[in-house]
Amino acid sequence: MRPGGVFIFTALLAVAYAKTLIGIPTFDFDVTSTAQFSLSQVTRILVDSRFQSTVDLNGKTLIPPTLFAFAETFASDLVELGLQVPVQVASSAQPGSIFLTISSDDRLYLDAAGRNTSEGYTLTVGTESVIISGASPLGTWWGTRTLIQQGKLGGLKLPIGSGSDAPGWGTRGVMLDAGRHYYPPEFLIEICAYLSFFKQNTFHVHLSDNLFNNVDIYSRERSLDLYAAFRLNSDDSAVAGLVRPYRFNESYTRETFDDIQSSCAARGVTIIPEIEAPGHALVIVQWKPKLGLADLSLLNISHPETIPTMKAIWTTFLPWFHSKTVHIGADEYDSLLANDYILFVNTLSSFIGSSSGKDIRIWGTNEPSNTSTVSRNITIQHWEFFEDNPFDLIKQNYSVLNSDDGFYIVGKFSGSYPQQLNVTRIFEGNPAGGAWAPNIFDTNNATNNPPRDDPGVVGHIAAQWNDYGPNATVVTEAYYSWRDGLPALADKQWGGVLTRAQYDTIFDTLHSIIPGQNLDRAIVSKTDVILRYDFTTASRGTIVDSSGNGYDGTCVACSVSNGVLSLSSPNSRLTTPLSSKGRNYTLSFSINPSSHAPIGASILSGPESSLVLGNGTVQNLALISANQAYVLNYTLPRDAWTDVALIGRGNATFLRAGGRPEMQFLAVLGINGDSFEWQPIAVEAPLAQIGGNGFVGGISNLQLLGSA
Ligand SMILES: *[C@@H]1O[C@H](CO)[C@@H](O)[C@H](O)[C@H]1NC(C)=O
Ligand SMILES: *[C@@H]1O[C@H](CO)[C@@H](O)[C@H](O)[C@H]1NC(C)=O
Ligand SMILES: *[C@@H]1O[C@H](CO)[C@@H](O)[C@H](O)[C@H]1NC(C)=O
Ligand SMILES: *[C@@H]1O[C@H](CO)[C@@H](O)[C@H](O)[C@H]1NC(C)=O
Ligand SMILES: *[C@@H]1O[C@H](CO)[C@@H](O)[C@H](O)[C@H]1NC(C)=O
Ligand SMILES: *[C@@H]1O[C@H](CO)[C@@H](O)[C@H](O)[C@H]1NC(C)=O
Ligand SMILES: *[C@@H]1O[C@H](CO)[C@@H](O)[C@H](O)[C@H]1NC(C)=O
Ligand SMILES: *[C@@H]1O[C@H](CO)[C@@H](O)[C@H](O)[C@H]1NC(C)=O
Ligand SMILES: *[C@@H]1O[C@H](CO)[C@@H](O)[C@H](O)[C@H]1NC(C)=O
Ligand SMILES: *[C@@H]1O[C@H](CO)[C@@H](O)[C@H](O)[C@H]1NC(C)=O
Ligand SMILES: *[C@@H]1O[C@H](CO)[C@@H](O)[C@H](O)[C@H]1NC(C)=O
Ligand SMILES: *[C@@H]1O[C@H](CO)[C@@H](O)[C@H](O)[C@H]1NC(C)=O
Repeated sequence: MRPGGVFIFTALLAVAYAKTLIGIPTFDFDVTSTAQFSLSQVTRILVDSRFQSTVDLNGKTLIPPTLFAFAETFASDLVELGLQVPVQVASSAQPGSIFLTISSDDRLYLDAAGRNTSEGYTLTVGTESVIISGASPLGTWWGTRTLIQQGKLGGLKLPIGSGSDAPGWGTRGVMLDAGRHYYPPEFLIEICAYLSFFKQNTFHVHLSDNLFNNVDIYSRERSLDLYAAFRLNSDDSAVAGLVRPYRFNESYTRETFDDIQSSCAARGVTIIPEIEAPGHALVIVQWKPKLGLADLSLLNISHPETIPTMKAIWTTFLPWFHSKTVHIGADEYDSLLANDYILFVNTLSSFIGSSSGKDIRIWGTNEPSNTSTVSRNITIQHWEFFEDNPFDLIKQNYSVLNSDDGFYIVGKFSGSYPQQLNVTRIFEGNPAGGAWAPNIFDTNNATNNPPRDDPGVVGHIAAQWNDYGPNATVVTEAYYSWRDGLPALADKQWGGVLTRAQYDTIFDTLHSIIPGQNLDRAIVSKTDVILRYDFTTASRGTIVDSSGNGYDGTCVACSVSNGVLSLSSPNSRLTTPLSSKGRNYTLSFSINPSSHAPIGASILSGPESSLVLGNGTVQNLALISANQAYVLNYTLPRDAWTDVALIGRGNATFLRAGGRPEMQFLAVLGINGDSFEWQPIAVEAPLAQIGGNGFVGGISNLQLLGSA
């Protein structure tokens, strides 16, 4: 059945009516029957045999999945709806199937400027089967997101009819500052899964940066020692020393970066890598100090080795990148050196273009010159009106990507920016009235905004920065900054018409089924009691979980009697089938640490955190996440029992012990070398193992609740 045929059929039926289906984003649909299609009828996914190996060559990625590959990911995602169905190849839809195909009708898939987009799709729901037909496999993939969302919201029932859909803008997503904070590859991949469920297609990863180089108070030595990182680790001699060996564990090898890019591409999300220079380039100057200006975070572009050094870096890493566009940074440079800046940008543009065929993107930066201009084929990523006027740039024929700081986030604390997306601004941010959209650069002054259909607006990227470095936040706090607002923004980036009230109604339901991620670090549980070890019996090393969830543990070199787990040697441990629990939680237990347990022994540990008796030099109880210790002014008594509860409540973490008032774990943020800020820190509960890293002593009554 062809989509065109459906429309004729629709017009003849009295029940036909157009409806905006509520989803994230919304979806316009012509309902043609009062009957419904139940997804429980689905027995298989069928991939059109003509297109099973087709890929989208017009998208942002150079590694586009085939239609068949997208179908397999879709099949695994349907498990979220309780459906387990195989993927097969066929020439047409059959009863009980979801048929995935490619449409040739370009008229249906136009962006806000009226241009063809390969991301459009048509969803046709019949009485016996569903057909998703995309302008490309990526379009079909977005259609599968609509199906999953509508299936969930409709209790597995879909209305019968058909609808066509296409994004208004081609670049939709976020940027994360991975330069001033390391993020494990799995986390980046989970963020891609989050984006993808709401049809966002771009994850811009900022791969190098440094803490603010406060030249007013730092000596040259201190600047050369300031936190600065470059996250791509190549063994090519051209970049030997750029990543210091002590940071190999906080950088991505080519294999790892390939895995991030292909895992994200598998869900329709393209990684746009950014290597930042000539500003925010302290890591390059720490590597080659002679290339710095007086402010060592800025490269001296007129030094004869600077541009060759940047070319060597790009020559090394261009083959790693599977996107058609790369980002060269070019943010916040000295405006008195405008000609140097423009020379730098244009030189790298032609170098990268001629050596790889890739386009480049730069941050909009105020660099006034009377003699030169940035090439028109470079996309300007606008972020602030004091740097550029985006509408003026568009009038000068630049393509502009909207990253206005109206949606900036700075992790944990900032004098200027919030820590969460402003949801009111998303739904009401058009100064001419109504919701924000990617053509809204200025939420206060409509004169600064081009019309919605202006082809110069490339799309929108919401940026999150880590101005206060690696110890201000734990990894998942970056997710929590976006968690509640980003899907709303995704609706607007696509061109949806969701209202705030509708969003608030469906958010939790859709959030609960986002495939490919568990960023909440949630644990499936029958009741609020997730885990309970009474330590009454152990049979052959198995410690029974009495919560009813069956999370039995395994005891190694330990023993259990009378409700006590005895860990008598430094490698005695209890391992659980769990790893971490995110907010909210209460992890309580009684503990009797032996005076033989060394300072620094860990009581509990997991992939994201550990709770330790001390930090190696001081016997203060501490939580550790990514090797950063968050220390309490409290020491557990030795050779005595104490009741302890570790509590994750919202964005803060607490400890209750020995009947005292709750104590809070705090992050100590260094603010530009001239002050400190004490802020809450939200650390996941460590659950993988009890003991095992030196701890000697007893534990009893261990219980994990999903509330705090
Ligand atoms: C879309 O692409 C088709 C060819 O695939 C072309 O015929 C049509 O004119 C294009 N439409 C627009 C608006 O670019
Ligand atoms: C930049 O490099 C040029 C060429 O080597 C040199 O003359 C100039 O002094 C350098 N600028 C600074 C601020 O070091
Ligand atoms: C952009 O245009 C300039 C000329 O203005 C050219 O040198 C450069 O190669 C072009 N870059 C790309 C990526 O096409
Ligand atoms: C550009 O020209 C204006 C007016 O002649 C002058 O004031 C300004 O200093 C010049 N800027 C640069 C960067 O040369
Ligand atoms: C933490 O939560 C509190 C209360 O909900 C809120 O006021 C504060 O802004 C949050 N802080 C961050 C960094 O998210
Ligand atoms: C959120 O955005 C709205 C609209 O732009 C603005 O009025 C409000 O002050 C913002 N709220 C915060 C907390 O910044
Ligand atoms: C609005 O923007 C226009 C164009 O940039 C500017 O001329 C005008 O002064 C602005 N209005 C206000 C109230 O800021
Ligand atoms: C342990 O904590 C103390 C107090 O916070 C601190 O002074 C010391 O440097 C820390 N030692 C280690 C090894 O982290
Ligand atoms: C990597 O190793 C360094 C040095 O041992 C340590 O400071 C850092 O916290 C480690 N990072 C991670 C993510 O484990
Ligand atoms: C730690 O607590 C003790 C009392 O228990 C108090 O005397 C001391 O000043 C506290 N230290 C800090 C750094 O708060
Ligand atoms: C966690 O606790 C905070 C503070 O009590 C509350 O605002 C929040 O809604 C809770 N979150 C969940 C997921 O229950
Ligand atoms: C966190 O890092 C800053 C540097 O940005 C440093 O000044 C501060 O002491 C660190 N905090 C802790 C607890 O190590």
